[in-house]
Amino acid sequence: MSESFSLEAVVRPNILALKPYRCARDDYSSGILLDANENSLGSAVTGDYVSVAQAQALNRYPDPLHVQVKDRLVKLRNLPGPDHVFLGVGSDEVIDLLVRIFCVPGKDKILITPPTYGMYGVTAQINDVGVVKVPLTVTEPMFQLNTAQILETTRQDPTIKMIFVCSPGNPTGTLIDPDAIRHLLQSLDAFRGIVVVDEAYIDFVASDRGESVASWVTQYPNLVVLQTMSKSFGLAGIRLGLGIAQPAIIQLMNNTKAPYNVGTPTAAIALAALTDEGIAKMQSSAVQLRAQRDLLLKELPKITGVGELVGTHDANFVLCRILAKDGSGEPSSERAHAVYERMAQQCGLVVRFRGNEPGCAGCLRITVGTPEENQKLLLLLAQTLEQL
Ligand SMILES: Cc1ncc(COP(=O)(O)O)c(C=O)c1O
Repeated sequence: MSESFSLEAVVRPNILALKPYRCARDDYSSGILLDANENSLGSAVTGDYVSVAQAQALNRYPDPLHVQVKDRLVKLRNLPGPDHVFLGVGSDEVIDLLVRIFCVPGKDKILITPPTYGMYGVTAQINDVGVVKVPLTVTEPMFQLNTAQILETTRQDPTIKMIFVCSPGNPTGTLIDPDAIRHLLQSLDAFRGIVVVDEAYIDFVASDRGESVASWVTQYPNLVVLQTMSKSFGLAGIRLGLGIAQPAIIQLMNNTKAPYNVGTPTAAIALAALTDEGIAKMQSSAVQLRAQRDLLLKELPKITGVGELVGTHDANFVLCRILAKDGSGEPSSERAHAVYERMAQQCGLVVRFRGNEPGCAGCLRITVGTPEENQKLLLLLAQTLEQL
């Protein structure tokens, strides 16, 4: 690295100067707590949840930082310590915080690489932050970063503060070449901002295909890795996402978040899922879903009207093209949309239409279900394609 990265130069000046709010539980969390205007008599919960509410002291505000949860994540992800982890209300909250920390509304921009996860662009728009798009490659190797174009774009426009990389991608299901990510991180002559690597689906990646870049945060002060409990841990309902970065960035995120963003029940359930047994269960479900994914990859092409299975299928979904009825072999977004609608409305089976995304003509994104759900999907898709 000939140039050096300066966090101070990238952070919004108002965030850098922020004197963070100090909440009551930052100071004391035990004793006779008459400091946070909680209800000393307990919660209004009745019925089955009374014991849960009492055991978890739900009349009290949660721990603001949940260090115990972070300790377990540190062990799982091989990180130096809890000061490298931020916990948010899903990774969606982490995305929003990052945009707010680094991008001045009405002035700065983020760079995204379509087809990609929709919330990067939506979050930017909500925050009045511009969005620059450099699409992923749509010829072999499919759905990889066009690093030359990304870096040329950032070189030309220093108001681009962040690059969002999704790996494995949504909806592409494709793991991004780690060398390309490293290239972005190291090209400080062309980009001095933050590279965000969203690894929501990382636990579904087979070990011979690649692995997380989370441990790279020790080398790169300009890297933030996002992960989530929503996918491989099967805990989308608790809303817990992670930002992994060097302590200076984690500190900025803690300064900027709402005081008690992650609730006590969420943390308690996350702790239970992060025991050795919980992690073994997560890993076993990832193995089973991968096997079911491989079955879908084998069976889908046998259905008349199903075309190419696009990308490298590294996540818990597959992206498949629906072909035109005329036998031309061309993908048809119109037919894919009709299939999607018919299956949802008449069969109660819902997949996602993605035919309007770059490189995704005619594409449906299908989440891997249970073995029974997958059989049903194969049957209903075949029947629907016969009709439409
Ligand atoms: C790539 C990607 N990132 C982040 C998220 C949001 O995850 P969370 O539930 O942690 O907010 C999703 C959800 O579908 C996703 O696909």
